[in-house]
Amino acid sequence: MNITELTKIKSDYLATNPIFNEPKNVHPLEHRIVLKNYQIINPEEIVEYISKDGYFAFSKAITMSQSEVIEMIIQSNLRGRGGVGFPTGLKWKFTLANESDEKYVICNADEGEPGTFMDRHILEGDPHSIIEGMMIAGYAIGASKGYIYVRAEYPLAAKRLQIAIDQAKDLHILGTNIFETKFSFEIEIRLGAGAFICGEETALMESIEGKRGLSRNKPPFPAENGLFGKPTVINNVETLANVPFILLHGPDKYKELGTEKSSGTKVFSLSGKIKNGGIYEVPMGITLNEIIYKLGGGMKEGSQFHFAFSGGPSGGVLREEHLHLKVDFDSLIPFDSIMGSGGIIIFDQNDCVIDTIKLFMEFNKEESCGKCTPCREGTGILFDMLDDITGGTANLDTIDALKYLGRMVQTSSLCGLGQAAPNPIFSTLRYFKDEFVKHIEHKSCSAGICTFDKVMEEE
Ligand SMILES: Cc1cc2nc3c(=O)[nH]c(=O)nc-3n(C[C@H](O)[C@H](O)[C@H](O)COP(=O)(O)O)c2cc1C
Repeated sequence: MNITELTKIKSDYLATNPIFNEPKNVHPLEHRIVLKNYQIINPEEIVEYISKDGYFAFSKAITMSQSEVIEMIIQSNLRGRGGVGFPTGLKWKFTLANESDEKYVICNADEGEPGTFMDRHILEGDPHSIIEGMMIAGYAIGASKGYIYVRAEYPLAAKRLQIAIDQAKDLHILGTNIFETKFSFEIEIRLGAGAFICGEETALMESIEGKRGLSRNKPPFPAENGLFGKPTVINNVETLANVPFILLHGPDKYKELGTEKSSGTKVFSLSGKIKNGGIYEVPMGITLNEIIYKLGGGMKEGSQFHFAFSGGPSGGVLREEHLHLKVDFDSLIPFDSIMGSGGIIIFDQNDCVIDTIKLFMEFNKEESCGKCTPCREGTGILFDMLDDITGGTANLDTIDALKYLGRMVQTSSLCGLGQAAPNPIFSTLRYFKDEFVKHIEHKSCSAGICTFDKVMEEE
């Protein structure tokens, strides 16, 4: 395969198949980069991807130096979509700088956070865009092997990725001496086994290595000592899916979208008590109001907005007064919330905020890998305290104890799971303190769902 052949495949296909599916259900506020082929091409036909300029970004990348490719990503200001928002180009630059006989690129497709399902749609709808993003990353850092770590609960995504890999190999887009250069690259799929912690980058690498998914200490960071001890770039699905656009259209075009510090678009997964749940790709900086009332079509019949959670069990609660806020990597932080990986859940008058954070804490407690004591024990005790509050056996000292232990877990846990687990407690204490007091002092729940049944058990 070379660029001439790639161009011929595209023009031959377009000559006989000029019509693609019409994009379905695209909201006028959307701007699709990552989802540009979603429900338009047949994801199981590589020629359809090629005829939509697929693999042309890669063919451009390999005519550039590694540093030039990385500089383009740095200039675009692309930040990791897996939740943390670390600058992608810098991560690649650090990995390129580390000499090694082998390096790896990992695509993190574990997507285990409650309320998130955007990566699933990207993987199922346009698997070649991930492969192309990984190939560009591989070329840029000097890796010849990539892994896609996809959760086993996404069988269609895994199947389509495998078909895409096989078709790319058949066309010699993946393999040795790709596009008649010295660059060789292969990709393998690894299935996750239903553990949220395996989405954490170091636990994920342990899992690929065949070990139990336990987080590692950082430093050393993966750029230096990653998979099998080799320099590794690990990026989220959506991050990688942005890369071909940046290569093809340039960093300035990319930066036209979004905000100064959060360029480009974000795919949001919207769920809860709104009319139109689903995935939406919009420029960063859209307001919560627009997300709920325009994209989401407003609250469901009979529902009134009560609160929203952004960033799931690692995020924070948002009230009516926050609806004017922009959603990007930085704007929600002063309000004790985060954009995270883009999962936004909307709650109504029948949902209790304390019961909700208890559910998140139960999730964190169950999913803690158990390696470090603060997270293993702390998430369990925090859950018990919240359970005392909804069960009616807490007193006002429980609030101070929640804060004290929450800070301890936040500051002393080994990885992001424990470090972020107390976040929903802190933001809820900030914005719904009265609800805590009401539960504790009056054994009363505004939503009417907490049963305070532990009191009866004690009596
Ligand atoms: C408990 C936990 C679970 C995570 N799960 C995911 C995940 O499913 N997908 C993902 O891309 N990042 C996840 N992350 C973040 C990754 O550790 C890592 O930051 C990310 O894959 C880096 O890619 P990015 O720079 O492109 O965002 C998780 C982090 C933690 C602490």
